[in-house]
Amino acid sequence: MPAITVAEHIEKAVRKIDKSTAIDHWDRNLGRYDAEELMAEVLGRKLTSRVLDRVLDGTSKKRFAAMVARRVNGEPIPRIKGHYTFRGLDLLVRDGVFVPRASSELLAEEAIKALRRRRGQRVAVDVATGAGPVALAVANEVRHADVWGVDISVDAAALGKDNARRAGLRNAHFRAGDLLDALPRRLRGGVDVFTIHPPYVLRGDLKELPREIRKFEPLQSLTDGSDDGLGLVRRLASEAHEWLKPSGVLLVEVGTYLSRRTQATLRAARLVDVGWTKDELGVTRVVSGRTPPGTVRTAI
Ligand SMILES: C[S@@+](CC[C@H](N)C(=O)[O-])C[C@H]1O[C@@H](n2cnc3c(N)ncnc32)[C@H](O)[C@@H]1O
Repeated sequence: MPAITVAEHIEKAVRKIDKSTAIDHWDRNLGRYDAEELMAEVLGRKLTSRVLDRVLDGTSKKRFAAMVARRVNGEPIPRIKGHYTFRGLDLLVRDGVFVPRASSELLAEEAIKALRRRRGQRVAVDVATGAGPVALAVANEVRHADVWGVDISVDAAALGKDNARRAGLRNAHFRAGDLLDALPRRLRGGVDVFTIHPPYVLRGDLKELPREIRKFEPLQSLTDGSDDGLGLVRRLASEAHEWLKPSGVLLVEVGTYLSRRTQATLRAARLVDVGWTKDELGVTRVVSGRTPPGTVRTAI
């Protein structure tokens, strides 16, 4: 069989990925993006025209074929590669822990801006932190802040710790527990910013999700079991008063369709200045609220 070039291997892979029924083809160029990303991973370099004209060696050929087969089976690219770049940080990705998404970069950005506006010792808490992308981006970009990531999944908290160690971020700490249970008590009344990218899929909508999400993401990272997708947010908005400083900020990543109901949830929990931030497509992705300026924290 004649030796075929990197470019030809990519074309073959694009055809296979395009035909896969296990993938949500939301962009018609997805097959090409995916094949190129996997090839760049195998070769450990950018796909320049010189690289594309090369003949692929046997080992790389096998590795690429195995990766393409996994993608055709619906596995998300970061899970196949084992890592994902989030706001410039190369984060490990593992089975059993939600894969970070580029859409969460806005949540991190809003938290960074809010922390930079505040004075003194700054503390941020990322609830439902998963692999820790938001917590780690905040810790990386606001080095003097103390950042905590908490998640009900022991695997997620362990991965957050590994990612912090890899990135050399000693100001990022991870704990496993339900909602805020694992946070040290001394943080009560001392938190500047809470972030949360909650499991917001409505219980009844789970079956509508693309197979590659249903099959590869842990159920508890997708839904909190509530009918309206706001169970965890409602709990956090109500408990946040005990933990936030006066005028402390709560930032919630939302599915667009949940923006108004999330705003109403924050208002119902007595948070003030409820607002929202749109992404570059003009779609609301972050809803925010704050504790009133003179909030006295609840005695326990
Ligand atoms: C949509 S994922 C977001 C993960 C991460 N923040 C990110 O953006 O990649 C939701 C996360 O919520 C966590 N979770 C679900 N229920 C929780 C609870 N009761 N307390 C804390 N974390 C919870 C899941 O384990 C999962 O990691």
